[in-house]
Amino acid sequence: MKKFLTIAIALVLVIGCVANASAITVGFSQVGQESDWRTANTDDMCAAIEAEGWTLVYDDAQQKQENQVKALRNFITQGVDYILFTGVVTTGWDEVLKEVNEAEIPLFLLDRMPDCMDEIDYVAAFGGDFLEEGRRMARWTINYLAAQGRADEEINVVILEGTTGAAAATDRTKGIMEVLDKQDKLKVIASQTGNFTRAEGQAVMESFLKAHEDIDVLLAENDDMALGAIDAIKAAGKVPGKDIIIVGCDSVKAAFDAIVAGEMNCTVECNPLYSSAVIPMIKGLEEGKTYEKGVVHPEEGVFCMDGGIPYDEAGELLSVKAADVIDERKY
Ligand code: AHR
Repeated sequence: MKKFLTIAIALVLVIGCVANASAITVGFSQVGQESDWRTANTDDMCAAIEAEGWTLVYDDAQQKQENQVKALRNFITQGVDYILFTGVVTTGWDEVLKEVNEAEIPLFLLDRMPDCMDEIDYVAAFGGDFLEEGRRMARWTINYLAAQGRADEEINVVILEGTTGAAAATDRTKGIMEVLDKQDKLKVIASQTGNFTRAEGQAVMESFLKAHEDIDVLLAENDDMALGAIDAIKAAGKVPGKDIIIVGCDSVKAAFDAIVAGEMNCTVECNPLYSSAVIPMIKGLEEGKTYEKGVVHPEEGVFCMDGGIPYDEAGELLSVKAADVIDERKY
């Protein structure tokens, strides 16, 4: 009888735990599916939540802020236990995020930070250091030109910017210009948004090529736009990676392939994988742990055709040859 009782109590405890684990509901408000980076970001988080046996309420906002506001309010109405949020643009979130706080739903800020983050409560924030990524794109380009013996040449640069108003675009542009403004050889002759997509990257590059005969460098604020631009450059009868040096951002597998094929020169990493940080924190919160607010930037590198080109201010950090690591890249 005693043995039976012990087994029964153990069973109740186990079933209780399982029921409790599967009772967790996570709302994830994602900006859309504009790029390979975004797909990797979505897949990583959704798979991790589902692997825990938790319920996922996923919303793809299709790049519209109003859809995200609606999704967040729906999460509140549904009474989800946690909210994961990345905002398509930086501004305009104050009201709805305060509503999330009032509903006392623990909030994780991912990828692009809202400008009101100092005025709201959140558990943790994980995102790329966009400013530094922009600086790396520009520094790598300057050092590469020097390594090619072109340090004294006048160089014409075009920029494909990301989505207007998104921190990933604003800060990458800021980082690029901060570095370019300190020298006088590289001149930006055109800069326009390609909305982080291949199709728009291609279309805008086509218009750049029509307007300017002598483009030396393309800085694309994500790899998808760089890959779209490669098609436009080929169609214009030029050789991508040679006639025009192409530097992207994200470091997705397709960019590594383009680098190995000699059609792209470099990609600065932006890490899309946050689940290994977020999931343990949700478990910690379930156990009553508390965390300090603050933004965590995952470590990121620079991958290129020719390894060993410096990309930090002191000229010390060296980029990695994409061909050496391509097999490890899963997205
Ligand atoms: O916010 C991160 C950026 O958004 C990535 O660089 C880009 O590819 C994505 O769409």
